[in-house]
Amino acid sequence: MAWWTVTLSSPDAEPRSAWLDSLGIVAIQVVAADQVRCCFEAEKDTIAGWRTNFEALGFEVGEIVEQKESNWPQQCSELLRPIEFSALKIVPLVSQSDLPKERDPKAIYIIPGLGFGTGHHESTELALKLLERLHTDGMSCTSALDLGTGSGILALAAAKLFGCKVEACDIDPYALENASDNLSINSQSFEINLTKGSIGEFSGAAFDLVIANIYAEVLIDLEPQIQMAVKPGGVLLLSGIMSSLAQQVEERFKPPAWLPERLEKKSGWCAFLVRRSA
Ligand SMILES: C[S@@+](CC[C@H](N)C(=O)[O-])C[C@H]1O[C@@H](n2cnc3c(N)ncnc32)[C@H](O)[C@@H]1O
Repeated sequence: MAWWTVTLSSPDAEPRSAWLDSLGIVAIQVVAADQVRCCFEAEKDTIAGWRTNFEALGFEVGEIVEQKESNWPQQCSELLRPIEFSALKIVPLVSQSDLPKERDPKAIYIIPGLGFGTGHHESTELALKLLERLHTDGMSCTSALDLGTGSGILALAAAKLFGCKVEACDIDPYALENASDNLSINSQSFEINLTKGSIGEFSGAAFDLVIANIYAEVLIDLEPQIQMAVKPGGVLLLSGIMSSLAQQVEERFKPPAWLPERLEKKSGWCAFLVRRSA
């Protein structure tokens, strides 16, 4: 296996880049509104197939360049920029050995890996903002579910803000490996449990808070199961929604089952807070 980088172009490259996640792309850097740069790991003889897959997603594909340096995160320096929120600070690290001796009490440390979620993508950023908002509003939360945990970033944020027990799941085993690494470099006192699978694993559970940063189409499909997982009166945080699909999501998560509470938008992405009717 080797590391590769490629520049992909399309007039709507930035929102379109959301689909790259389904190919297992490790790092996506937005270079301009119509251009993104990706890092991924692959065998040399699969590169032609990767080109076809990028083209099938509607991108014009630049040269796919092998990276001789295996320590790819150092090459994607944008991924290593810390992001400061109000109560939280996301601090990406190249490896565990970069953990500071003195931990920042606001920090969540993330090693960028095969799980989506360094905090730099709008869908994660909007979800973190809404989590902070719930915290500021004094939400009492003893149990949370992070559906599609990726790097584990939102599970860590929920555990840190609310001191609650968190179940986190993902269908992608590589994401779970990365999430597990990220849980271990953060405080051991967090009660976060990782499960391979989706909402079906939690059909009998009722959470105060369910967080789901997955794409709109998936959220719409999973609505009946998500409804069974949120306690009556509990809160659902939906993110990963491109603006063009926001109305479809609103129509699916609407009264009488769901009460709309808050909408956040940034650069073509939306995130919602809705409350399950009591
Ligand atoms: C956009 S990423 C979000 C990662 C992280 N939670 C964040 O906010 O940055 C979506 C994640 O959901 C996972 N996923 C996609 N469909 C899923 C499903 N039906 N059930 C559970 N996880 C799913 C993907 O593997 C991916 O890790």
